Amino acid sequence: MSTVNKVLMAPDGPEFSQLVQGYWRLGSWDMDKQARLTFLKQHIEMGISTVDHAAIYDAGHCETLFGEALKLDPSIREQIEIVSKFGINGIASSHTEKRVSHYDCSKQGILASTENSLRRLGVEQLDALLVHRPDFLMDADQVAEAFNELKQSGKVKHFGVSNFTSSQFDLLQSRLPAALITNQVEFNPINFDVVADGTLDQLQQYRVRPMAWSCLAGGTIFSAQTPQAKRLRATLSELGEELGADSIDQVIYAWILKHPSNPVALLGTGNTKRVKDAANALTLKMNAEQWYRVWVASKGVNVP
Ligand SMILES: NC(=O)c1ccc[n+]([C@@H]2O[C@H](COP(=O)([O-])OP(=O)(O)OC[C@H]3O[C@@H](n4cnc5c(N)ncnc54)[C@H](OP(=O)(O)O)[C@@H]3O)[C@@H](O)[C@H]2O)c1
Repeated sequence: MSTVNKVLMAPDGPEFSQLVQGYWRLGSWDMDKQARLTFLKQHIEMGISTVDHAAIYDAGHCETLFGEALKLDPSIREQIEIVSKFGINGIASSHTEKRVSHYDCSKQGILASTENSLRRLGVEQLDALLVHRPDFLMDADQVAEAFNELKQSGKVKHFGVSNFTSSQFDLLQSRLPAALITNQVEFNPINFDVVADGTLDQLQQYRVRPMAWSCLAGGTIFSAQTPQAKRLRATLSELGEELGADSIDQVIYAWILKHPSNPVALLGTGNTKRVKDAANALTLKMNAEQWYRVWVASKGVNVP
């Protein structure tokens, strides 16, 4: 089995594993504490040492479940890099008042959300904290103040963003002393807008790696009955045979990792066999014609 290597995320940035285990769906995996710890140890053993969380995942419950598992073997903390995110204030479905979910990039909101994440995870420091979604009311000076405070206190080592446009990225970067270490963005054969809208160009320019989320389109790539999904499955299977892949998931990871912005890919599965398959995909190398066959299958037209 291949071992997943660590890669530098940005100039002076941290090293993350080239595949990152996402924990958004942890609450649906039906694992007790011990099973959560076993899953964590299994992916660390494959070299997948970076884990992705967010304050909003199951309203904080995913971080709590992860923290409980970590507490069973605190020595694991030194073997992993923990990423979390802030900035989406959801409302409980039981809420009866007329209110909406909204974004919060205020200094106070950032500090409070980070404290809560640290407490739920049961750790003293995050390796990276990301702005989960662009807040249209974001005051970049306030965000910078909060980041500086979190850095000074040792609560967060590095900072990044998620779902940012390139202009939002530049705005925030202009107020920060250190390079943002990533822009975590959706990138899969169904939605790869970031390839053409300047997001990945900017990251390539700055030598900052994107983190690709929902690489398998949240699983819909296997099940959707749209003409696009059918075309994609046919093309991915054909490519799988050419490349000697075991599954179409592997072809998708090879397709994402071929992009010259050098993404790291987030995994969303809670199935160890599928994590292993993803790790084995790193040896697959796609050529340009094969990469564009996925593009054409997705769009349903040839390149201009
Ligand atoms: N920054 C953001 O805004 C943002 C947004 C979304 C996600 N994320 C991050 O990205 C991570 C990954 O996202 P994701 O969970 O959407 O990833 P994904 O890999 O696109 O989807 C995972 C889902 O696909 C299913 N799946 C995987 N392989 C399959 C197969 N061969 N056949 C059928 N179903 C299959 C999984 O089920 P099994 O568990 O049964 O394998 C799971 O339900 C999240 O955990 C989170 O950390 C970030």
